[in-house]
Amino acid sequence: MKFREMPVAPGGEGFLGHNAAFRNDRMGTLALLTQRTEPVLRLTLPMPGVQAMAVNDPDTVQEVLVEKAKSFGKSDMLRFSLYNLAGEGLFTSNGELWRKQRKLMAALFTPRALEAYAPDMVACAKRTVAGWADGRELSLHAETTRLTMGVAGKTLFDADTFSDADEIGHALTVALEWTGWIMGRPLAIGHVTVRRALENLAERFEGDGARGRVRGVIEAAIARLHGPVALLGKRGGDLARAVAFLDDHVQKMIDDRRRAGTRGRADLLSRLLEAHDEDGTGMDDRQVRDEVLTLFVAGHETTATSLAWTLYYACRNPALYAALEREVDAVGDSPTVADLPRLDLCLRAFKESLRIAPPVYIFGRDSREPVSVAGYDLTRRTNLLISPWALHHTPSIWPDPERFDPDRFLPKNEAARHRYAYLPFGAGPRVCLGNHFAYMEAQLAMAVLLRTYRFELLGEEEPEPSATLRPKHGVRVRVRLRDHARTMAGAAVLN
Ligand code: HEM
Repeated sequence: MKFREMPVAPGGEGFLGHNAAFRNDRMGTLALLTQRTEPVLRLTLPMPGVQAMAVNDPDTVQEVLVEKAKSFGKSDMLRFSLYNLAGEGLFTSNGELWRKQRKLMAALFTPRALEAYAPDMVACAKRTVAGWADGRELSLHAETTRLTMGVAGKTLFDADTFSDADEIGHALTVALEWTGWIMGRPLAIGHVTVRRALENLAERFEGDGARGRVRGVIEAAIARLHGPVALLGKRGGDLARAVAFLDDHVQKMIDDRRRAGTRGRADLLSRLLEAHDEDGTGMDDRQVRDEVLTLFVAGHETTATSLAWTLYYACRNPALYAALEREVDAVGDSPTVADLPRLDLCLRAFKESLRIAPPVYIFGRDSREPVSVAGYDLTRRTNLLISPWALHHTPSIWPDPERFDPDRFLPKNEAARHRYAYLPFGAGPRVCLGNHFAYMEAQLAMAVLLRTYRFELLGEEEPEPSATLRPKHGVRVRVRLRDHARTMAGAAVLN
């Protein structure tokens, strides 16, 4: 079937089509997809010659992300929006570079490597609660961010980020908010359109000699258009300052490590600095910087957000909250890897929060060659939007989707569902590298937090769709030290 025969997604009726719809009401536009049963829906965009569509059912997710994964790459729009922060890091890169780096970094996420991170995860959770006091009001999202940032810094880079957590957190927030804001704006659309036109032009100059030289010039121009050429206005200035701060921080880490040496250390930074190609060339500082910032952001932002959402939903369900406390109390003050099977409800609640409020609520792919999807013929560079949030809120897949129910993740219920109906970590070769890391961190952090304090919710939440799906008000709570944590024996909880 021809692409133009594909049914059009609802919501894009205005002059600027779905582009305006997503900008004005992102969640409302995604919600419209959940009402439709077609596997794919065409999106209307004000960009001549650009084809875009939404993937709207688990079978088609499987077709695109798993079976035909080789025909797709990370989307130009995502790469443009994240370029200042993540450059050519693992999350945004494509092709050979991605393959090589993924293999290198996978070594940090083997089951054995993960086990070794558990004590640091528990230590960071204890350090977080040690900063609270009985009766204090706080933002759980800010606290879970401090916690997961500490874990990412320690386990991945053997660095202590706690002391600088607020400054780093602020810089990352500025950079991520810019990413969420710029996506789909005229500046980003302009860049992507010009880049594509240049790519089409370059293809016409095959061969050596003068043709090859022209092609070289065009390709050099394309390389400059991966990210914004200039950062203008207040937002642009804020982003430039935030990125300069992060660059300085990472460069200092690299310099310190080069001075201290990498021998005997197995963390990511040492691996990146030790890595060599077959011809003996090492990774340049720019690539190391891109990988460090990518992993640092990917490794803490999403987990912090989903931990805050999990605790929010737990607070709203007293029976669930009481059951979680019973579970963590049975484990005691210092959970270890061996306790993970006993923290099953924590895991199921965390999984359910990733269903109802997936931090990565949309992601994209661009086709790299002509390919068919759900029976429709796509040309090269068709843009595909995949929304875990929309899939997770489709009533035909998830009955009563607004109800928070960890039992959806009991083994028998998981087995009865389509494997790709649940997509918080993506799927296929580009599935999240840190999914098991996140599960383990969430279980251990919940065990410490819920064992030490009780949370009283101070207000309702709603999702704020930026680069990730954060809780708009940060999950405001009052914390109450639990009785056993007040006693002398309980003091050990905080050590
Ligand atoms: C609840 C927590 C997390 C969520 C919801 C999440 C979600 C995702 C998603 C959806 C993708 C795939 C995007 C796509 O296909 O376009 C992804 C990729 C990735 N994630 Fe996560 N993530 C989480 C935690 C982590 C952690 C803890 C780490 C590292 C410590 C991590 C590292 C990465 C990396 C490196 C990639 C890129 C993989 C590649 O393209 O090869 N993530 N994540």
